[in-house]
Amino acid sequence: MEGAGDPDEILLDPQEAPLPRPRLRGSVVTRHAAEDLSDAAAFDLVAHAANCVREFGDFHLALSGGRTPQPMYAALMYDPRFRGLPWRRTHLWVVDERCVPIEDERSNFARIRETIVDHSDIPPEQVHPMLAAMPGAAERYERELREALGWRQKGHDRLDYVLLGMGADGHTASIFAGSPALHDAERLAMDVPAPTTSQPAVARCTLTMRTINAARFVAVMVTGADKRDAVARLAAGAGPDELPAAALRPAAGELRWYLDAAACC
Ligand code: 6PG
Repeated sequence: MEGAGDPDEILLDPQEAPLPRPRLRGSVVTRHAAEDLSDAAAFDLVAHAANCVREFGDFHLALSGGRTPQPMYAALMYDPRFRGLPWRRTHLWVVDERCVPIEDERSNFARIRETIVDHSDIPPEQVHPMLAAMPGAAERYERELREALGWRQKGHDRLDYVLLGMGADGHTASIFAGSPALHDAERLAMDVPAPTTSQPAVARCTLTMRTINAARFVAVMVTGADKRDAVARLAAGAGPDELPAAALRPAAGELRWYLDAAACC
């Protein structure tokens, strides 16, 4: 029909066009809008939590700080579609922390507490802040992890779900290029020096790559054009010494990337 144009052009609405899927290890979920991406991750989280509670009676969840997952954390609290998350059976861990008191606005736990803990019925003894400003923080966190997971059968004594972000420099958790937390085979958590590539420049405490890679499900949520280059370099095969996120390789678990349009094309 004259004037109707090429029907393919109609499909070229950027919100509708399929997104490229970078070839990353694990599975890759892409969405045009960060909000849809956060919903996709939240649905997976709720389903995974329910499976773990069915299987083990509880669910060990480790959450990151950073800007990217904040809308998802809020949605977990107010969106009725995610009401099924079994908070009463959940142990809440922190992936990494700045060495500041937990009341400090730079504290990851402060954000997680005000968004999630204060609005859920999670029992207080199942909330595990990383007290990174205190000496021996990493050792204490390791002990706490071993104790809380220790009653589970061998092989199941690991975190069930770890939510990560990634910096434009390829760091994940507080594991920066050259960090001992990248390759250490024994430690579950480590104190690490202040990064030179990320703000705020304060020392941190972090779960190690070993702990993350032992988890049952590792989700990495990456949004924004400033991360595009790191995503492309990972897809091109850059290694962990260049981009620490390249070391993500759960030994007996699932790795899933959640990328918005800006991060993947
Ligand atoms: C943190 C993190 C860190 C974060 C990335 C991405 O506490 O800052 O755990 O690994 O996930 O730096 O941060 P954004 O989501 O703010 O880009």
